[in-house]
Formats: sequence, C-alpha cells, structure tokens
Amino acid sequence: MENPFKYGGIVRGPYFADRTEELAELIREMTNLGRVFLISPRRLGKTCLLFNLMDRLRDLGFATAYLDLNAYPDIRSFAAALTHLTCKALESNTERLIKILSGLQRLRLKVSVGHNGSLTGTVEVAIEDKDALPALMEGMHYAEKLARKKGKRLVIVIDEFSDLPKYDGQTLEKALRAEIQQHEHIGYILSGSEQSVMLSMTRDRKRAFYKLGRIMELGPIDRGAYAYFIFGWLHKGKYRFEKRDLEKIFELGKDVPHNIQRLCHNLWELARDSREITPDLIEKLPWVIARQDSPHFELLWQAASQLQRTLLMALSREPDAKPFSKEFQMTYGIGPSSSIKASLDSLTKKGILFKTLKGAYQFSDTFMPYWISDLKQTEK
Ligand SMILES: Nc1ncnc2c1ncn2[C@@H]1O[C@H](COP(=O)(O)OP(=O)(O)OP(=O)(O)O)[C@@H](O)[C@H]1O
Ligand SMILES: [Mg+2]
Repeated sequence: MENPFKYGGIVRGPYFADRTEELAELIREMTNLGRVFLISPRRLGKTCLLFNLMDRLRDLGFATAYLDLNAYPDIRSFAAALTHLTCKALESNTERLIKILSGLQRLRLKVSVGHNGSLTGTVEVAIEDKDALPALMEGMHYAEKLARKKGKRLVIVIDEFSDLPKYDGQTLEKALRAEIQQHEHIGYILSGSEQSVMLSMTRDRKRAFYKLGRIMELGPIDRGAYAYFIFGWLHKGKYRFEKRDLEKIFELGKDVPHNIQRLCHNLWELARDSREITPDLIEKLPWVIARQDSPHFELLWQAASQLQRTLLMALSREPDAKPFSKEFQMTYGIGPSSSIKASLDSLTKKGILFKTLKGAYQFSDTFMPYWISDLKQTEK
C-alpha cells in the first residue's frame, strides 16, 4: 500500500485532512461572492485548502481561477495569466474562447494548432510596461463582464498575495481595489504568508486594501480531526498503535501540517515491516528527518558566520531565549546587541529564522534545531 501521508505538494481528496469548518466557511463566503484575505504563517496549509476548496466550488457550479503571484515577475505576465485563466474558467469551448480573447485591446492572442488539429488560444504579453496596469484592469473587467454574460459565479484565488508589493505599488493596489469593488459576479480570495505584510496591507487605514474584505487567519488543523485522519490510515495499513502515543506527533511537529505529514510519512516507512508503532519510534522521528535534510542544513551552516552559528546553537538549545538580554549575551559570550541584531536580521533574510508577530526569533524549519544538536554531539 502506498504511503498515504504526502508532503511537499498539494494534497487532495482522501489524502487531505479535515479543514471541514474552514471549507464550509469559505464556501459560505464565496456563495455570497465575498472577498477574503487568507493569512497564516508558512506551511500551515493555505494552498492545499484553496485547491480543495476550488474542487468543491466547481462541483457546486462555480468557475474558478487560481494564480500564484510567485509565478509572475511583472504586471504584464500577471495581467496575461489572469485574463487567460479567468476566460478559460468561464468558457470551455476553445473556439468561443479564442473569439473572446481576440476582442481584447491590450493583450494579444496567440493561437496554436495541436497535432490533432485542435486549437489552443493563449494570451501573450504584447504590451509595453506602461500598458501593463491598464491591461490588467481590462482583463479583470472582462472577466466580470463574461461572468455576467454566462450567468456564472467566478472565484478568483490569488496565492502569495503578500508578493504584490514587488510590483511596486500604491497605484496598482488602488487600481485593484477600485476594480474589485465593482465586481458583482466574482468572489476573491487573496492569500498570503508574510503575515506582517498581509496585515499591514489590510489593516492600515492608509493602504488600499483596508476593509476591502474580511481577514481569515488560518490556524492549525484541529488536533482531534487530524488524529482521526491519521488513525484511519494507520488502521487501513494494519499498523498496531496506542492512540495516546500519537499525541506526541502534534507536539513534535508544532501543529504545522507540513511537519505532521512528514513525521507520519516517516513513521509509516520506519514501521513498514514491523507494523508496530512504539513511543520510542515516535521520539526518533525528528532526528531521522533532520538527518535526511542534512545536506541542506550543512550548506546553510557553512555560509553562516561564527556569531550566527552561536546564535543558532543558542536558539536550538533555548527556543524562548532573549538574545538582547544581558544574561543571554553573558552566557554565550557574545555581543553587543547591534551585532546580534545584524546577525539575526541576516538569518531572517536567508529564511533560516523568522520573526514572530511578537518579535521572537524562531527556526523556520522545525527540524533544524535537531540537526544542530546532533552537530554538537559530533563536535564534542
Ligand atoms: N489538510 C491537510 N491535510 C494533509 N496535509 C496537509 C494539509 N494541509 C497542508 N498539508 C501539508 O502541508 C504542506 C504545506 O501545505 P501548503 O503548501 O498548503 O501550505 P501553505 O500555507 O500554502 O504554505 P506556504 O505559505 O509556504 O505557501 C503540504 O505539502 C501538505 O503536505
Ligand atoms: Mg502556499
């Protein structure tokens, strides 16, 4: 039987755990064609939730279009993709789609003929930079018009929305707001993980998205429901286990679905032959994962300065440490605060640490501290 605990990509259908309430809430919002800002720290499951939501929405008769801002380096390519994907979602007949797209003024249609004679129409970026924003507005406007004409409800999901400032701008933000506000046939979900960016975009009175929609902060998956999902698969795989032993997995994975999936994936493999899950085996999991990722951690370590290494070691030992306190600096023989700040900023920039909304520094990868403590063992 194949390992049912998948990680690293989008999990769907029977491999997708719970999120019953979140899905119901988002379906309610989209039924009213609302606008939702979906916010959470990284790897909590926004993208998976959105794909499963879109599957459900399509079953309910909605048209859906998904865009990941990471994939579009500039407004031109974003405008082309948005136009193409929304029109395609609303019109499944290729010939009619081509006819629709050829009516666009600022984006050029490219038609290609497949080997079986089938036609494919894509939108090409044939515009100059200065026309990119009007082209985006045209595409969005067109999507609304087409949805009205077709009598369909369209949901546009924009993932990694916290990347929007890379397009340089207040003008873009204002234009987007103005356009979105006029739409009566489109629901929007704007999802992002840079919490502070997303929060300042939506909660700052001076910013364009202030009060444009509701903010939904995605939390961890409900432990009870997640445990039920895990037990279900383990039963199916004929594994023997005590339910209470598995509680530990949520602690080790800090309730982050990506971590939980990874822990369970490894648990399944390690016990594949014995089919017996013991507390010892569970305790071992984070170390096993840390070793699997060793080449990656090694590279990060090599590139770190001495002070950065000391800070990483200290934080792996004391996750709640206060690096700017005198006591901390005395214990580890480092300072002054200004160099510590510079090192922490650099580690944050490299993505090794992240700064919580409360200002604490934490490891982005839950398993890296295990690798560092392993390192201490071998260095001794
Ligand atoms: N409901 C779920 N059931 C099972 N696994 C899940 C679920 N949600 C998330 N995961 C696991 O967590 C991983 C990360 O999820 P996802 O990519 O959706 O998070 P994200 O919040 O979009 O992260 P990022 O902010 O980095 O884009 C997935 O690859 C998957 O393994
Ligand atoms: Mg994502």
